[in-house]
Amino acid sequence: MALESKKDWILMATARSPTNIAVVKYWGKRDEALILPINDSISVTLDPSHLCTTTTVAVSPKFDRDQMWLNGKEISLSGGRYQRCLREIRSRAGDVEDEERGICIGKEDWGKLHVHIASYNNFPTAAGLASSAAGFACLVYSLAKLMNVREEQGKLSAIARQGSGSACRSLFGGFVKWEMGKDSTGSDSIAVQLADEKHWNDLVIIIAVVSSRQKETSSTTGMRESVETSPLLHYRSTEVVPKRILQMEEAIRTRDFSSFARLTCADSNQFHAVCLDTSPPIFYMNDTSHRIISYMEKWNRFEGTPQVAYTFDAGPNAVLIAPNRNVAALLLQRLLFYFPPSTDTELKSFVLGDQSIVKDAG
Ligand code: ADP
Ligand code: DP6
Ligand code: CO
Repeated sequence: MALESKKDWILMATARSPTNIAVVKYWGKRDEALILPINDSISVTLDPSHLCTTTTVAVSPKFDRDQMWLNGKEISLSGGRYQRCLREIRSRAGDVEDEERGICIGKEDWGKLHVHIASYNNFPTAAGLASSAAGFACLVYSLAKLMNVREEQGKLSAIARQGSGSACRSLFGGFVKWEMGKDSTGSDSIAVQLADEKHWNDLVIIIAVVSSRQKETSSTTGMRESVETSPLLHYRSTEVVPKRILQMEEAIRTRDFSSFARLTCADSNQFHAVCLDTSPPIFYMNDTSHRIISYMEKWNRFEGTPQVAYTFDAGPNAVLIAPNRNVAALLLQRLLFYFPPSTDTELKSFVLGDQSIVKDAG
């Protein structure tokens, strides 16, 4: 059936994407529009059953404009990031046929059709738990599915990157590296999987939600200000991260938890030092975050070897990584003892997660 002959059809696709937490952080762009970073980064993708975005995209000849709802509220799609993702996916769209319902969309038709997008995060948005990562990975993946885009994951990651840098890493499970690339077009600034989710599946990740409030400074604004004003960031991206990336890759390859934990904690601390070195300074962590760090440092020092790794993204919430379930159980017990609910330093909740594959809700 020709596209124009019948107007009451609607075609939908749904996908689910997990968030990812960087253990060597991305902070700083060399190209704001294309979202090209100033250093490589490495992350671990979390189990989507705990922290994930679910996005449904729909197309119909009845829709007169592109529209999006995030967590039930309409948001504007006029921003460059959404426009870029939509344009990149549309330009790669393929033919779609639904014989049963008599729908046939030729690849040339996609430019004339509008989409409706409904997305839900099952965790706090814009609170430093990488909602932009899960969100844009899911947007790109669901649109690609709807429009029958037949690109390999690496190419899709370069599109998701243009929505939010960290999103490129959420298209793969396990341990993922975002290679900064050299090309000025960004074609080689893509995510690659270092190891799949089975490689080191003893690891247990506990997220201690200190605050689910929206942060005052978005990651985008924060890193722009750091690039403009922090001398430490320049040193970090040229002198520290290149070596740290190699060491982290080796620690992951050999499942060396001591090295992994040392590098993860050091990188988180340096990232927050860069935030303090920014003018005016940016405070993503709060007193509770600092108390968690002190506690973990003491525990690790007492044992003589790292028991738990901690890392904080651009927000106060702690991501704690234990080498196995026994240590994770002990960690939870201790967190509950030292940070009991209903005190000044209370933790709002815990989310337990494993690292995981990227699952597609179909
Ligand atoms: P976070 O630490 O949560 O990643 P950011 O400041 O990096 O915070 O990004 C938050 C922004 O990401 C939101 O304001 C919104 O524009 C975008 N975002 C979050 N969730 C989604 C989603 N599910 N789909 C599309 N965009 C999203
Ligand atoms: C601290 O990817 O959210 O989480 O590219 O501007 O959207 P934009 O920023 P975003 O920055 C993430 C910063 C970080 C570290 C990381 O995920 O590597
Ligand atoms: Co983000």
